[in-house]
Amino acid sequence: MKGIILAAGKGTRMYPMTLPVCKPLLPVYDKPLIYYPLAVLMQAGIRDILLIVPPDEMYSFIKLLGDGANFGVNLTYRIQYEQRGIADAFLIGRSFIGEDHVCLVLGDNILCGDGLNQALHTAAAQNTGATIFGYHVDDPRPFGVVEIDPDGRARSIEEKPAQPKSHYAVPGVYFYDSSVLDVAHGIQPSARGELEITAVNAQYLREGLLRVVKLEQPFVWLDAGNAKSLLTAANTVMRLQKQEGRLIGCLEEIAWRMGYIDDETLARCASKLKNTAYGAYIQGLCETGK
Ligand code: G1P
Repeated sequence: MKGIILAAGKGTRMYPMTLPVCKPLLPVYDKPLIYYPLAVLMQAGIRDILLIVPPDEMYSFIKLLGDGANFGVNLTYRIQYEQRGIADAFLIGRSFIGEDHVCLVLGDNILCGDGLNQALHTAAAQNTGATIFGYHVDDPRPFGVVEIDPDGRARSIEEKPAQPKSHYAVPGVYFYDSSVLDVAHGIQPSARGELEITAVNAQYLREGLLRVVKLEQPFVWLDAGNAKSLLTAANTVMRLQKQEGRLIGCLEEIAWRMGYIDDETLARCASKLKNTAYGAYIQGLCETGK
C-alpha cells in the first residue's frame, strides 16, 4: 500500500502566519504539524510515501524530512501548482500509486490514541472498496459529514452541509483500493470549484463499497485548520504527552518500534536533537531499550 500526504494548501485561514511558511511546517507544540499525518501513515505500516507540497516550499520539506531514511521510509515529493481540491492528490499521484492501494492523509490532521495502530492496520488490510472514519463532534458543519446506519454502514455523506444529518465528521485519513484513480478522474468540481474528497467517497458509497469506522474514546482527532484549532491542537498534544509520559507523532520512535530503523540510527537521531526535550525522549528510548 502507498501513502500520500496532501500538504499543499495555501493555509489562507491562517494568514499572516502562513504567508512565509506553509501550514504543515508550523509547530504543533514540540514538532511540525506534518509529523502527525506522517506518523499516521507509518503506524499503518506504509513506507512508500508521496508528499504533495506547494510550489516554492519543496526545499523546506526536504530540509526537514529528507528522503525519509531517518524514519525508515521512502519519501517522494511532488508539487501541486494549482489548488484543485483534495481528490487532485490522486491525479498528481497517479504514477506513484500505480496498481496499488493507497491511504491519503491531509497535512493538517492529527489522529492519536491507544488502538490507533490496530484501527489503521485493519483499514489497510481491506482488499476492496474504501474505508473512512467517523468522529463525533458537536458542530460537524465545517467538515465532511457521514450518516451511519445502526448496523454501522454509511448511509449518506455530504461536504460541509448547512444541516448535517449526523454528528460524525470525517477525519482526513482515507483508505482506497486502486480504483480510486478512475473514481477521481470521473468526478466534477464542486460549487466551490474543488475536486472534493467527499465526491470520491460518495461514489464508493453508491457502489456499496464505502466502509465507515467510528473512532470513539480514547481516540483523539484534531484538525489544525485555523489559528484557534492549531492552538487547541498544541495544548492537547502537550496535555496528552504529559499525562501519558510518551510523545505523540515521534517519527523516530515509531520507526524504531515498527522495526524500520535500528538502534544505531535511533541513537544518531537522538544526538542530533540533544538540546531538546524531544531529543532527550529519544535518548531515553536508546538507553532503556523500550
Ligand atoms: C477537508 C475535507 C472534509 C474533511 C476535512 C478533515 O475539509 O473536505 O471532508 O472532513 O478536510 O480535516 P477542509 O479542511 O478542506 O475544509
